[in-house]
Amino acid sequence: MTRLSEITLEQLRTRRSAKWQTFPAEVLPAFIAEMDFLLAPAIAAAIETAVHNGDCGYAWPDAELGDALAGFARRRYAWQLDPAGVGLIPDVMAGVTELLRLALPEGGGVVINTPVYPPFFSHIRAARCTVVESRLVRDGGGYALDLDALEAVFASGVRAYLLCNPHNPTGLVLSRDELERIVELADRYSVLVFADEIHAPLVLPGAQHTAYLSLGELACSHAIALVSASKGWNIPGLKCAQAVAMSAPMRALLGRLDEDTWERAGTLGIVASIAAYRDSVEWLDDVVRLLDGHRMLLRSLIERDLTGVRYTPPAAGYLAWLDCRELALSDEPVDVFLERGRVALGPGLTFGASGAGHVRITFATTEPILRDIVARMAAALRTRD
Ligand SMILES: Cc1ncc(COP(=O)(O)O)c(C=O)c1O
Repeated sequence: MTRLSEITLEQLRTRRSAKWQTFPAEVLPAFIAEMDFLLAPAIAAAIETAVHNGDCGYAWPDAELGDALAGFARRRYAWQLDPAGVGLIPDVMAGVTELLRLALPEGGGVVINTPVYPPFFSHIRAARCTVVESRLVRDGGGYALDLDALEAVFASGVRAYLLCNPHNPTGLVLSRDELERIVELADRYSVLVFADEIHAPLVLPGAQHTAYLSLGELACSHAIALVSASKGWNIPGLKCAQAVAMSAPMRALLGRLDEDTWERAGTLGIVASIAAYRDSVEWLDDVVRLLDGHRMLLRSLIERDLTGVRYTPPAAGYLAWLDCRELALSDEPVDVFLERGRVALGPGLTFGASGAGHVRITFATTEPILRDIVARMAAALRTRD
């Protein structure tokens, strides 16, 4: 095991990132998708070398990035991707926005599966498109995709589907069968698919990631995948993501992204992403092992200390979607946890109306901090009214 958990709270509080700056020091932040670990050693070394060389100029779409991603995708997901189809974008959401702007007419409908990552709403609107919700359905304690409902919205004339797989905040990982059905539906109703697979490196034991573009020619004919090392290796501030196109029409669409888009990527992000995909897979495996343990530790802590909170461990990633409706707090329970427990969680309603009564926790942290998050939540519930 690498030095994942060696970081201290004092060290974390010196970070300049949004996670550690948004709230005052007495609040413990668990609201944003950032991990509380040190960098993978190969990433740190690659950045140090770049800094030593003063390599901080404007970003350039380096062919090595496509090669490194292709090698990782082949080994990790058995996805054979052609590095020539890899485009540089500053981050996944910038890629989504610019591609929607290029591909859709003003007002064009874009389907999302709610509850979902809040910027999906704002970025679809920023691209002058219309949000069309197709809710996930409850399946036991967890969630599932409702393919009939998805077909109904596809048939209503929408132009695109912003697929989130693995899904944020539910941690749902779609099966190959489900994805194959989506390919058929998208083809039948001429829907463009933008497959946000940013959480794929963090698929946990028991689940398997299927890359949308690994599903054959039909999938490649109507889809662009958006991937990044930013979640798996915790480098979102370095600004580097990739858009992948594997058919002539999709490459043509990607080719229409102008220089202004990819120039907003960071050179250190490219350096770090190459080091992540190529040289930091053991570190990633250590993270996956730690998260696998934490998702179960969280379950036992919730069962012991947070009666009335419902939680199904995610199949991927480090986000826990907690159903607090039984506590009858309010539609936005984060307020009570922040005010009375001094712990900052993700507000459920920002994930869509079906997020009412829910909160999201980030559990990619050290064990003492994870225990403190739950302890603060429990204290908030004890002291309310
Ligand atoms: C599903 C999903 N897409 C995109 C992003 C943001 O990615 P980026 O910083 O590359 O825009 C996140 C961040 O948490 C996410 O969860």
